[in-house]
Amino acid sequence: MSGSPKYQSKFTVYVVLCWILAAFGGLMFGYDIGISGGVTAMDDFLIEFFPKVHERKLHAKEDNYCKYDDQFLQLFTSSLYLAALVSSFFASKICSKFGRKPTILSASVFFLLGAALSSGAVNIWLLIVGRVLLGIGVGFGNEAVPLFLSEIAPVQHRGAVNILFQLFVTIGIFIANLVNYATLKMHPYGWRVSLGLAGVPAIILFIGSLIITETPASLVERGQNGRGHRTLRKIRGVEDVEAEFQQIVLASEVAQGVKHPFKELMKRSSRPPLIIAVSLQVFQQFTGINAIMFYAPVLFQTVGFKNDASLLSSVITGLVNVFSTLVSVFSVDKFGRRILLLQACVQMLISQTAIGVILYLHLQATDSLTKSQAIVVVALVCLYVMAFAWSWGPLGWLIPSETFPLETRTAGFAFAVSSNMLCTFIIAQAFLTMLCSMHAGIFFFFAAWILVMGIFVLFLLPETKNVPIDAMVETVWKKHPVWKTFM
Ligand code: BGC
Repeated sequence: MSGSPKYQSKFTVYVVLCWILAAFGGLMFGYDIGISGGVTAMDDFLIEFFPKVHERKLHAKEDNYCKYDDQFLQLFTSSLYLAALVSSFFASKICSKFGRKPTILSASVFFLLGAALSSGAVNIWLLIVGRVLLGIGVGFGNEAVPLFLSEIAPVQHRGAVNILFQLFVTIGIFIANLVNYATLKMHPYGWRVSLGLAGVPAIILFIGSLIITETPASLVERGQNGRGHRTLRKIRGVEDVEAEFQQIVLASEVAQGVKHPFKELMKRSSRPPLIIAVSLQVFQQFTGINAIMFYAPVLFQTVGFKNDASLLSSVITGLVNVFSTLVSVFSVDKFGRRILLLQACVQMLISQTAIGVILYLHLQATDSLTKSQAIVVVALVCLYVMAFAWSWGPLGWLIPSETFPLETRTAGFAFAVSSNMLCTFIIAQAFLTMLCSMHAGIFFFFAAWILVMGIFVLFLLPETKNVPIDAMVETVWKKHPVWKTFM
């Protein structure tokens, strides 16, 4: 049981249930990230929908750096991110007009339809429509869930509660990899099982979205002060919520004056949280995390686990990813956001550079690393994933969800979501081609980005730990040496 002197709160069964149920939106997202690569590598799937790609793949020449790469197939995988990019803006409208809860409900319905269509697809068009529906689900879920979690969390635990989203993303990726490994041997319809199982978390999210509460901020923003007050009492588990409620009412009065949030967002005074939100998401992707996750099986093959390399790599990196995210859950509200990001930059910079050096010196196109070199590389990959998992992974979602004032919160967060999707798309589309032309140099490319983001955090990212979400402008932005000149 905990409470700051000003804002009292207790954990109740209901509020913890709300956090967990909403976080299933993260599991959906993670499952989608994890499942696609495996499915598009399955021969049965290619023969059914992309016979020409399958034909080309059979005759492709591969080496350590130039894996088989088909832009068209990649585009199919990435279509989800493009759909999510666009839909996050619609989701932001629904989020502010109708609330976070109906947006999460819609996400689950899109997910469910998408999972059903893509797993049952009998032609490529159904498959693509399914993919787009899943993408819309991701756009809606990723817009509403982090905002929902940040708004219903007590201020002193906001980081931890929000990071449940990312924790569920990592669990989703892990489960998807295991599912793919199991369905690989189920001919000829293993891919249908992989895609269809996305329906399970979608159903849980659907039921969950009927059970969860609306956030007090969203209720007050839409003029339902009485319900907002009751909800706040319910989720805080205490009677005296006056101080916090007044803060929300104040924020909502300011918000009432703003009729066009997107226009408001373009004003100079809205720039600080917008720049921070977009930069964090762009940087998150340019850590190279998805490239590393993708490349891990190849690195693990060189350790000598030929046939089980992909299982082994997903189990090891997947578990490191999940458990290191827990570190963040327990430390983000104690040590703060900045220190986690900065510490991780150092750890990721060292590991990326070291991987680059080892591969540059010892791995040519056609030979392989010695066992001991490979073990070192695997250890470095784990160190890298670990650092990402307790920093840029979760905080890329947390910080943008907690720094916008109420009037631009959903619009601003939509820019964060769409930046993530755009950069995920770009990296997914370009990574294999870059690897083929840059070889080990790709690791130095990402290392350079990590250096830039470290400097960015050092000078430009304010600490938001323990600051009430509706007091950010006064407490954080107007006091920051650089950003106050914008306010
Ligand atoms: C990122 C994903 C990434 C995942 C890895 C998320 O925060 O947005 O792109 O695959 O973390 O755990």
